[in-house]
Amino acid sequence: MKVINQISELQAQVKAWHRQGEVVAFVPTMGNLHGGHFALVDRAREMGTKVIVSIFVNPAQFDRKEDLVAYPITMDADCEALEKLQTDVVFAPTAADIYPTGALRTKVEVPGISDVLEGEKRTGHFIGVATVVSKLFNLVQPDIAIFGEKDFQQLLVIRQMVIDLNMNIQIEGVDAVRDEDGLAKSSRNGYLTAAEREIAPVLQQTLQDTISHLKVLGAAGAASYQDLQQEMMAKLDAAGFRSEYLEVRRNTDLQPPDEGDKGLVILVSAWLGKARLIDNVQVLLN
Ligand code: PAF
Repeated sequence: MKVINQISELQAQVKAWHRQGEVVAFVPTMGNLHGGHFALVDRAREMGTKVIVSIFVNPAQFDRKEDLVAYPITMDADCEALEKLQTDVVFAPTAADIYPTGALRTKVEVPGISDVLEGEKRTGHFIGVATVVSKLFNLVQPDIAIFGEKDFQQLLVIRQMVIDLNMNIQIEGVDAVRDEDGLAKSSRNGYLTAAEREIAPVLQQTLQDTISHLKVLGAAGAASYQDLQQEMMAKLDAAGFRSEYLEVRRNTDLQPPDEGDKGLVILVSAWLGKARLIDNVQVLLN
């Protein structure tokens, strides 16, 4: 495995691979890797003949400076794990390489899908994500790029961006990886105290409860989803969370479902102590 910091070296490597007919699968990350990321790399290994993982903590996507400052840097452990997963290249650019003028100047914005839920709670977040991912796509020139469904809204934003900008890249989503008690793996779980970690699985249990209620209400019961959402947020708050949203949305465009819409996703965001946890589940109604 090569660790590449220089853009010119990365580009020469990818050019050579493409000339040899290799299929480049790319996993963009911000490091601090866990089982969720490893599943993305495994999928990249299955789909491509060469695997590139980028590690870049993107300042432009943090809406709170303190989160950026606190973001754990675990480069040695990340590289050790990636080597075991047969990664070919770790691309770790500097902020000066990615933002040469020191500022976010030309921006990529994917309106609509970016404006709701996480986009509402975290101003500018998806502009930061879409911009850095398009820069990384330009640099890496992958054939395939892999993203986790744990960040479902991010995955939809990237899919839309690739369509809108005519990028010739196949976007692949991979299911969230969960601990045995259902908590989705996330760098943010590291901020939970032992007592909070005991409570944390209630997030996924509440999503499963919401599915059961949705199945009873059915696609014809869309008018009652609002009450259901309120009830489920109250449950989270009673368990010790500070819920931000729990929303039933269409799984295609994240808009509130109309009566008869069947392909749904339930997305939740809630604070538990210092950790802001997000999760989602998809549900197909009859
Ligand atoms: O999901 C992440 O870790 C980041 O949002 C990404 C896609 C690497 C962009 O910085």
